[in-house]
Amino acid sequence: MTTQTKPSVNEGLEGIVAAETRLSHVDGERGELIVAGHRLEDLAQHSFEDVVGLLWTAAGVESAVTPRASPLPPGTLALLRDAASRRLAPMDALRMGAGTLVADDDRSAAAAIVGGLPVIAATYARLLAGHEPLAPRPDLGIAANALYLFTGNEPHPEHVQALNIYLTTVADHGFNASTFTARVITSTGSDFISAVTGAIGALKGPLHGGAPGPALDMVFEIGSPERAESVLRQKLAAGERLMGFGHRIYKVRDPRAEVLGAAAHRLFTSAGDLRVYDLARQVESVALRLLEEHRPGRRLQTNVEFYTALLLHGLGLPVAQFTPTFAVGRAAGWTAHCFEQRARGRLIRPQSRYVGAIPSMHRVPQPTA
Ligand code: COA
Repeated sequence: MTTQTKPSVNEGLEGIVAAETRLSHVDGERGELIVAGHRLEDLAQHSFEDVVGLLWTAAGVESAVTPRASPLPPGTLALLRDAASRRLAPMDALRMGAGTLVADDDRSAAAAIVGGLPVIAATYARLLAGHEPLAPRPDLGIAANALYLFTGNEPHPEHVQALNIYLTTVADHGFNASTFTARVITSTGSDFISAVTGAIGALKGPLHGGAPGPALDMVFEIGSPERAESVLRQKLAAGERLMGFGHRIYKVRDPRAEVLGAAAHRLFTSAGDLRVYDLARQVESVALRLLEEHRPGRRLQTNVEFYTALLLHGLGLPVAQFTPTFAVGRAAGWTAHCFEQRARGRLIRPQSRYVGAIPSMHRVPQPTA
């Protein structure tokens, strides 16, 4: 009789190292993030375009070109108009719009994605608000164009700086779910547009990039600091997760929350109204206390999405635009990972352990002589 050892199952692939990368390193115990050889805190001094260049170069792309916000092909615009007339969700419109981009090779695909997503996201937001789309301005960078294309106004330098900090802060983050999705698709030999379209689908989920909208809703639902404890206790008692808290890798405060929190503080201070900012800080401190009480020792800390919500709200973006704006920044990392996977990667193909029914072994009837 033969004995078969069953393979062990690692649900959620926690702790599995699936590749080597030069793109980013997440230290969840120390709360550190290194992107293309730079500490997160130093990246904020670079433009988003510079960070894209750093990532592409780290991925092995020689003489990478600077991506620019690019006008939309007529077919993409027609699709967005139709989606807006049906009031589709912005992340669905972004996924559909991204899927219409075409390119002859990987480099032009990467440029089309990084330069195209901000235009698709802002154009769709503008269409939803009932305004006619605008063409990107060649004199503006990606962050400035994203604001201009949405509002139609000359973007305020402080707003441009804040959005730039946001985009650089979320540009790359190890093997998160959407990046892994992009790498899986690229690993099959498929194209970058397909990879990023799939990544957008993964980012949309509330456990990944879909959290900042609900995080802000939670702050507004609480409304005043004295209500924080009772509202949050009710949510936890009802089995809800507090959006903007907890992380698969970080067991201390997400360093991106620190950078975005400081940027949000500057933004709200310059606007002369710190009420929402102060409320959010108070909600955060109550949430951290209750989470420790709720799951002692799990070290559930503030993640990037909590301050993403605050910063993007301070920039005047509607909640529905939060996740598409995350995609605009993360497109830097997605495309860099596509390049890296293309250059060195192997087909990604894990296994599963079958636990379904086993058919009984029937003897095949022997033909009679
Ligand atoms: N609120 C309440 N409880 C939480 C929580 C949260 N935000 N995050 C995790 N927990 C609890 C889980 O219920 C689980 O408890 P259990 O072991 O009793 O079932 C425990 O803490 C561990 O969580 P787990 O789901 O195993 O961690 P994970 O690594 O799979 O999940 C997240 C990480 C991000 C998906 C999770 O923390 C979460 O859902 N956060 C809220 C959504 C969010 O902010 N997403 C953005 C991430 S950047």
